[in-house]
Amino acid sequence: MNDKVRRYHHITIVNDASFLISSDDSILKAALKKKIPFCCECGGRARCSTCRILVIHGEEHLSEINVAERNVQKYFDLPDNVRLACQTYVKGGSVKVKRIMNDESDYPLYLRNKIMKGENIGKEMRLCLVFLDIRNFTPFVEHHLAFDVIHVVRKLFYHFEEIIKANNGRIIETAGDGLYAAFGFDQTTRESTNKAVASVWEMFKALEKLNGEYFKRYFNQEIEIGVGVHLGKVVTGDLLIQDNPHPLVMGYPVNVAARIQDLTKKFNNNFIVSEEVYRELRHKPISVHTLERLKGVEQPFTLYLLGEEFSYQKE
Ligand code: FES
Repeated sequence: MNDKVRRYHHITIVNDASFLISSDDSILKAALKKKIPFCCECGGRARCSTCRILVIHGEEHLSEINVAERNVQKYFDLPDNVRLACQTYVKGGSVKVKRIMNDESDYPLYLRNKIMKGENIGKEMRLCLVFLDIRNFTPFVEHHLAFDVIHVVRKLFYHFEEIIKANNGRIIETAGDGLYAAFGFDQTTRESTNKAVASVWEMFKALEKLNGEYFKRYFNQEIEIGVGVHLGKVVTGDLLIQDNPHPLVMGYPVNVAARIQDLTKKFNNNFIVSEEVYRELRHKPISVHTLERLKGVEQPFTLYLLGEEFSYQKE
């Protein structure tokens, strides 16, 4: 093998091409030679960052980050697995990268630097997912002023959010009288699962207090909730809504967690967790478990009924 052959390495640019790249050419230069339509507004001078690539494999085979790239990285607070194609060379082995911006229509997604600091541009994580729904709330909605309805939900969710935050969880979505939270963004699976379940117990406790001291007193009504919890690998990222980052969590375990929450009605039990969650608990509460087929899911799931009967179903 002569010197020249040794200086060529294999690169895959996902969705574009796989080819041999000279270690003398930046990834941008080599890709443009191959007619890959890379964005490069500043012409490769480490100014615009439109040539960003996501490194999928082979980070160790890339050139060190130079001063110019480091400045851009700092300015945009880019994560370590994002490099500038115009400043990056392949020094050995094979690498797999992906263009982040396909064309100019993608610029607004990534270039609003001041509000994009620390953003999650997409990664897989194992998260514990909590779905919560206020039960039997429709009669309340029908018989009270709009202000009262919203006031009650605000009051509840204010307390729930405090508990979720204190346990390192994040509310991902609220929909009507339900909410969906995820735990595990910065903790191990075991830690986050235990915190997620602890937060559910705290929410039940807070609800009991609010029912006794507030809802019964001012609205002559007790509020009940049903909660389902599951654990699994999901896709996460930040979406910008009105210039604010909003967490996104998607994947099959999300549907499973939602279905488990729904089953709290069928089993007349206000707190159900999947076997995956139960296995992670340090203190496993004594509970009934049951095998259940979830809609659209082939294998049956073992579920643990940790809660109590709904009082509105007792009547
Ligand atoms: S082309 Fe502008 S930073 Fe790479």
